[in-house]
Amino acid sequence: MKLEIPKPLVEEHEALHAELKRATGLPGATGEAARAVAKLMHPHFEKEEAYALPPLGLLAALARGEESPGMREVLPLTDRLESDLPAMLAEHRAIVAALGRLAEAARAERHDEVVEFVRELKLHAQAEEAVAYPAALLVGEYVKRVLRA
Ligand SMILES: [Fe+2]
Ligand SMILES: [Fe+2]
Repeated sequence: MKLEIPKPLVEEHEALHAELKRATGLPGATGEAARAVAKLMHPHFEKEEAYALPPLGLLAALARGEESPGMREVLPLTDRLESDLPAMLAEHRAIVAALGRLAEAARAERHDEVVEFVRELKLHAQAEEAVAYPAALLVGEYVKRVLRA
């Protein structure tokens, strides 16, 4: 059982990162607003990749009913996510506010692809709050119950 972030989620983060990086190189208010987003997003992504998303690597095996003693390794990660969740959600709110300023600048300076990126990143944060974070927390709860049984 490996604690690896599912590949599509790794690629989604990489793609968002690449699009943001491109936007930070733009001149004017759009580039400036993109750099403000990047400052907030970088440490947030690192935390997600360290402990919020790796527990999802167990989902498919757990759904098949596979269990192994090694799965207890997920618990420090899910415990950390549980205690950090309010901070992670606050980071999302700060990122979404910065994205609002980025969308405004991008619209004014006619960077349509940046406006589209803002939409994608907002959707990404919503998907994490509705699916990825709760699923990772459930993995921790489930593993605790299985190990206790
Ligand atoms: Fe993310
Ligand atoms: Fe996030």
